Amino acid sequence: MAIKIYIPCDTTTLAQGGERVALLIKAEATNRSIDVDIIRNGSRGLFWLEPLVEVATKHGRVGYGSVTENDITALFDAKFYQGNKDHPLHIGYPEEHPYLKKQQRLTFARAGIIDPVSISDYLKYDGYKGLTSALSKSGQAIIDEVKSSGLRGRGGAAFPTGIKWQTVHDCSGEQKYIVCNADEGDSGTFADRMVMEADPFMLIEGMTIAALAVGATKGYIYLRSEYPVAHKILQQAIDIAYQNNYLGEDLQVNGQTNRLVNGQASGKSFDLEIRLGAEAYICGEETALLDSIEGKRGLVRFKPPLPAIEGLFGCPTVVNNVLSFAAIPFILTEGSQAYADYGMGRSRGTLPFQLAGNIKQGGLVELAFGTSLRELVEDFGAGTFTERPMRAIQVGGPLGAYLPESQWDTRLDYESFSSIGAVLGHGGIVVFDDRVDMLEQARFSMEFCVVESCGKCTPCRIGSTRGVEVIDKISAGINFADNLELLDELCETMVHGSLCAMGSMTPIPIQSAIKYFPEDIKVKSNIKTKITDTSDSTRGSQSLAGK
Ligand SMILES: Cc1cc2nc3c(=O)[nH]c(=O)nc-3n(C[C@H](O)[C@H](O)[C@H](O)COP(=O)(O)O)c2cc1C
Ligand code: SF4
Repeated sequence: MAIKIYIPCDTTTLAQGGERVALLIKAEATNRSIDVDIIRNGSRGLFWLEPLVEVATKHGRVGYGSVTENDITALFDAKFYQGNKDHPLHIGYPEEHPYLKKQQRLTFARAGIIDPVSISDYLKYDGYKGLTSALSKSGQAIIDEVKSSGLRGRGGAAFPTGIKWQTVHDCSGEQKYIVCNADEGDSGTFADRMVMEADPFMLIEGMTIAALAVGATKGYIYLRSEYPVAHKILQQAIDIAYQNNYLGEDLQVNGQTNRLVNGQASGKSFDLEIRLGAEAYICGEETALLDSIEGKRGLVRFKPPLPAIEGLFGCPTVVNNVLSFAAIPFILTEGSQAYADYGMGRSRGTLPFQLAGNIKQGGLVELAFGTSLRELVEDFGAGTFTERPMRAIQVGGPLGAYLPESQWDTRLDYESFSSIGAVLGHGGIVVFDDRVDMLEQARFSMEFCVVESCGKCTPCRIGSTRGVEVIDKISAGINFADNLELLDELCETMVHGSLCAMGSMTPIPIQSAIKYFPEDIKVKSNIKTKITDTSDSTRGSQSLAGK
């Protein structure tokens, strides 16, 4: 019988030579007359070990990572295909690896285990049980289940998913839509991509359940165009779902044509297609996203009306993040209580944290809310990649706060983070070592807003441009104290006067840099000559550290 060898086909693995490793393993096996069956799974999220090659043995899958093309001959010589330990890349059973063993994987339980486009693999590991359960329930009963799970949107705003669905459910109207936000623009985030590349049927199933709940028949996945691998895998999965009647007219469960639900045809339909974004951060904002799907330039809409009431093409629309939809099959399969049992306070369930930046063991860590940053970056991340002291951690994407060590024991839940003026966002965690210049980071945050602002409102469009200028003057020592005060006022204006969170949250990283890293807010000798200002500069050359 052919030996099963698993080699991931996700973006991270491909970026690290995974395709070549797969080709060479196949070729070497042929040369040595060893019968192998190469399966392209998704990543388990231990990115520093990719390409993580796994071999099926009678005791379970044994891993080797990270494998490069130069390791192939030695791996065969060591008989890795029998799960042999005698090779330095041998990591044992991946499930026993502390990085995975300490996680609470509800959403990512199948990631890296299954072939992402194998419907039989998906079914074997509890796939479509949630939809089967949903098909036997009323829309209201599904929504009640989602409400009592405590699930809050994982795209950033943490709005209760069940309440959003209830609003759409309660709207009258022939046409309702389900829209998945797969724009994933936050720095250091990749959990949505991992879902789409490792377990795409889970997203399709979650969206189908949402459609049943609110009475929608059409859905769109708004996918960022920078994710070509996710696009390919997701499209393949959608095609397969159609072929097996999990999408389309008269939805069926258990993958069999004409299979009846409780003795009757389901009579429910759901069509799903992908729409590609065009590399604009603001198109992740739900109303700009809807404009973009409608073929317009992505511009933020005034609210009200909420998209739940007047969304896509003016119809009631559920817009949820990939991770929000991906949590749904588990909730419908295991019951809302099983999900709500994880977490703390009003933050129920798990959050897939994404460790990125200057970190030794970058990857995906799914844990119940309530863990700490320190645990994540030290126990899982194993410190910085450069092996220098860690100095700052930005949590929640480019609009999230930079946190110093004094804040790393804060519990990772929505309320605790809000109490320190920070956000969890989409769970992205970007680590910086002691060489980071926090004034530069503050400037970067402001400049990000200049580049990505949709331009609809003045505080954000003009404020961010002026903000960069003010930061440059601070760096150059021009009216240092006055400009620092001006920056603070400008930030407050953006917080209170912006139309959407892009403008109102941009000050979060900037103000956190000033608050927590005052020693970096100082004149830079190398920038002074670049800025010209005719105003009084006698108060320059100060540092905030002593204030
Ligand atoms: C500037 C900006 C960018 C955003 N980008 C994303 C994104 O990439 N993905 C996402 O799911 N939500 C993003 N959001 C949040 C969405 O507007 C919206 O709250 C979310 O898609 C709702 O889904 P959820 O309730 O499941 O979180 C962004 C918001 C803003 C203001
Ligand atoms: S805050 Fe910025 S991104 Fe949001 S509406 Fe205003 S200009 Fe557009």
